Amino acid sequence: MPRLIGAKKKNIAVFISGNGSNLQNLIKHSLKKNSGFIVNLVISNKIKAKGLKYAKKYKINKKVINYRNIKMAEKNILKELKENKINLVCLAGFMKILSGNFIKKFKGKIINIHPSLLPKYKGLKTHQKAINNNEKYSGCSVHYVNSKLDSGKIILQKKVKILKDDTDVMLAKRVLKQEHLLYPKALKKVLTNL
Ligand code: GRF
Repeated sequence: MPRLIGAKKKNIAVFISGNGSNLQNLIKHSLKKNSGFIVNLVISNKIKAKGLKYAKKYKINKKVINYRNIKMAEKNILKELKENKINLVCLAGFMKILSGNFIKKFKGKIINIHPSLLPKYKGLKTHQKAINNNEKYSGCSVHYVNSKLDSGKIILQKKVKILKDDTDVMLAKRVLKQEHLLYPKALKKVLTNL
């Protein structure tokens, strides 16, 4: 029987732009003995991203990337990924679109969490769109990133029932709770194939 105990943990980088609740959740999971991964880099395109506080709290390398020039920005990101020996990139509320070129360089090694049941409702305001369309369910998806927005192969999804009188804020809150369960599960699945 192959033994996973003692196997080297994979290095992951988490890209954020905002609150970073998924980042915090992934860090907490990484600290478990058999998690199989370590978060050892946080990338943000915003200096004021609230989630950066978790990098500080857990003493994780962090880098704020200036996105005025996308080519330079991505060049800097690639340098960080290399220096930190990153095996997998996890996007978690990162509000920039990665170029096809960047994705090619890290092929099959970038995943994202999206607050809808893809392929429905790509892009922004996903819960509002689902409510407006009288959907019974919203939810979240973890998927591989390819050059088309929110269109890569789906790894895992979780449905969340839309309640009568739900607002997008109420629904987003319940979906976020499920995101925190889904992302580590999806990550585990991905890591076994890495
Ligand atoms: C999440 O809803 C995620 O699905 C979306 O952006 C939000 C990020 O939330 N891509 P947080 O910053 O992890 O709290």
